[in-house]
Amino acid sequence: MYEQISHSLLNEILADLSPELEREDLRHFFTRLGANFYSIYCLFHLLYGDREDMRQQMQNLVERMARQYIQRPEINRKSDLEREKNHNWFLSQQWVGMALYSDGFAENLPDLRTRVPYFQELGVNILHLMPMLKCPKSKSDGGYAVSDFREIESRLGTMADLESLIEELRKREILIVLDVVVNHTSDEHEWASRARQGDKRYQDYYYIFENREVPNMFEETMPEIFPETSPGNFTWDEEMGKWVMTVFNDYQWDLNYSNPEVFIEMLDIILFWANQGADIIRLDAVAFLWKKIGSTCQNEREAHLILQLLKDCCQVSAPGVLFIAEAIVAPVEIIKYFGEDAVIAKECEIAYNATYMALLWDAVATKNAKLLNQGLKSLPDKLDRATWLNYIRCHDDIGLGFDDQDIFAVGYQPKLHRQFLIDFFTGAYEDSPARGLPFGRNNKTGDARISGSLASLVGLESALEAGDLERIHHAENLILLLHSLILSFGGIPLIYYGDEIGTINDTRYLEDESKANDTRWAHRPKIDWEKAEKRKQPNTVECRLFSGLKKMISVRKEIPAFADFNNRELLTVANPHLFVFSRFNYNHGSVLVVANFDSSPQHLNLDELNMGGLSRHGVIMDLYSGESPALFKNQLIIPPLHFYWLTDHHRNA
Ligand code: GLC
Repeated sequence: MYEQISHSLLNEILADLSPELEREDLRHFFTRLGANFYSIYCLFHLLYGDREDMRQQMQNLVERMARQYIQRPEINRKSDLEREKNHNWFLSQQWVGMALYSDGFAENLPDLRTRVPYFQELGVNILHLMPMLKCPKSKSDGGYAVSDFREIESRLGTMADLESLIEELRKREILIVLDVVVNHTSDEHEWASRARQGDKRYQDYYYIFENREVPNMFEETMPEIFPETSPGNFTWDEEMGKWVMTVFNDYQWDLNYSNPEVFIEMLDIILFWANQGADIIRLDAVAFLWKKIGSTCQNEREAHLILQLLKDCCQVSAPGVLFIAEAIVAPVEIIKYFGEDAVIAKECEIAYNATYMALLWDAVATKNAKLLNQGLKSLPDKLDRATWLNYIRCHDDIGLGFDDQDIFAVGYQPKLHRQFLIDFFTGAYEDSPARGLPFGRNNKTGDARISGSLASLVGLESALEAGDLERIHHAENLILLLHSLILSFGGIPLIYYGDEIGTINDTRYLEDESKANDTRWAHRPKIDWEKAEKRKQPNTVECRLFSGLKKMISVRKEIPAFADFNNRELLTVANPHLFVFSRFNYNHGSVLVVANFDSSPQHLNLDELNMGGLSRHGVIMDLYSGESPALFKNQLIIPPLHFYWLTDHHRNA
């Protein structure tokens, strides 16, 4: 868009560009800058327009973007151009992700490189490498308390190791996702050290206060994120003699985005990792980017403006790179992190589908899909060119973040229902086979969240211990059922490492003082490769899970209706144990997904559905098993904890 004020500013900025930049070939950079500059200017002005140095800051911004563009390796520039042409590439059903720690899945980065064939064996082609940057040893928050944004933790390897890992992945057409922890730094980051030493410039990188007056005001409305281990949102720093805002752990200092220098530094870091070869960047804790007195300091409008600005700038220097929003917030808020408009107000192309995740767990505990259906109905439609990251487990706890109104709507009482879920998953509820652990109990509000590996939460751990074959099969079926739902829902399924072989809670964290009070470590396991080898031995849990999932992944990749073009219809059926939706594709036929959350067989009257895309005459076939399910008249029989991907076409027809 052409607009006089911003355009004349752009001309001025380009005229003042450092001479060394002028010598470079900036052709593509300039076209993209021209296309995005109006928007960059408007956003920058909205955020920083009241500052006297705004003009200079914009100059700095453009120069940093140009420098990173110049640094961009040829191979990434090429993929930028390819992705520009094929801009819906990430909506395809071909993509399947896995998230892992390099020192959990393997020993370190070089060892991880030797394990790459495993991803191909399973069918995974996006790898989310959990944060591996330098962190203080006993105050790392699992890699999210970064003390140097450009240095890899030496225990894990070097920059050269990462480079050769990425090269290996690229050879095998596997994409890589890297984290940028945008909301905070470790208190041992150089900026924090300088602030501590009294450097005013770096004190302005954070929220630092002389006394409790402002912090007390903030505390009135800010919730606590880690109430057990790090209550409150501010920490007294003895050396500085001041209070610092620390929303997460007391050693994680929140960055002050009302300072444009912070914005520019963090953009530079994002572009730096884009240039190291990240295909996708996961932006951590984005809901927290803007702090405002009198608010919860989450989901503020300015947090969205910052993300739009990051996106617009990234599109100039490294346009092929996508963003994942990690915003584990209320359903109506999550959706906003895609942006308000796919072209003029874009934020992140991908967002964690925390709503679906939490609702799936509700269905597991209640054995019915009432809240799952209700919760999804209230989830607003997302933008085109935006997609979900669908997951069952990740490295974090499970928050029961559904809407109270939805809980009421299906006839439960929110407080009691949440308590039931916590009791169920922590095994306190009688009959519950789960072995989860509470996380983040807040005695003031009564809230709690849940930790635990998928296998332990669905009862595989307790069933194995009891040697109860029937319960083992139930747990295995449930693990496959849940995966079938993240693989068919629409979006990129993100498998959590170890779940593909039924890894149970890893209790070794209890021996480490710096981890013992954070139950999330129970589900950040060290992979037992002898156990993983059993995936090749028939009649083992590992083999049933791994081969089931492997098959599911390969079938998913062949079903065009599973690509994400907002082509899903939830279907309301009378049987509450069933979760039913249809995925449609006008050229290639539709698929009816049916999942039974109950431990008894259930039936579905196909007449209720208007056939959900299935014709009355064809033979109904389950694409996963390749078999026709049991039918009596129009009643479809669904075995306990079983799923179907039904079609009336033969896949290859
Ligand atoms: C994100 C991470 C979580 C971390 C938090 C603070 O939510 O996923 O693990 O504790 O940010 O960095």
